[in-house]
Amino acid sequence: MGLRLGDIAPDFKAVTTEGEINFHEYLGNGWGILFSHPADYTPVCTTELGKTALLQEEFRKRNVKVLAVSVDPLDKHLGWVKDINETQHVEVHFPIIADEDRKVATLYDMIHPNASETFTVRSLFVIGPDKKIKLTITYPASTGRNFYEVLRVIDSLQLTANYSVATPADWKEGEDVIVVPAVSTEDAIKKFPKGVKVIKPYLRYTPQPDKA
Ligand code: BEZ
Repeated sequence: MGLRLGDIAPDFKAVTTEGEINFHEYLGNGWGILFSHPADYTPVCTTELGKTALLQEEFRKRNVKVLAVSVDPLDKHLGWVKDINETQHVEVHFPIIADEDRKVATLYDMIHPNASETFTVRSLFVIGPDKKIKLTITYPASTGRNFYEVLRVIDSLQLTANYSVATPADWKEGEDVIVVPAVSTEDAIKKFPKGVKVIKPYLRYTPQPDKA
């Protein structure tokens, strides 16, 4: 059975483009993203890693460490990174795991044999400071992921962790958020001094708490 939300993200040691990494040590006390792609020197993967590199500062601001993985060998990764930098006009500074023995791919169930016997699909895990899995997404090889959506989910997860709020459908940074059901309206009024709008007893909004 694959990994589920709330499970501890399995720890591992791996060879990467930035040296050997112990996963939990690499994450430290912050957040992390572990994501797989099918293969080096392929077009969609090139754009995905380029976009991730472009957003490195956004991940850093949110205290999120990024770690990519595919089953290709280290020398291939190193050559491909030069192509990503050249074609996507970026500098990749996050590590890419050379998972030749498929240790990480197997631990995280990233090979879906009915899609491909050999290559990892586009799996992505967001891991919290408690090392628990907070988000899993799986895309097919032919569809590049939306990394702005990944940032949006991280913003939502961090708001929940810090302020006990949830975010509504299609929420964007700066819009009102939802008071979680576990907080009574009486407590919400004390907790959220910017105000609580009660639409129904179970549907209550408050301005995003970490915005001026
Ligand atoms: C790609 O990254 O472009 C790709 C990889 C495997 C299958 C299809 C597309």
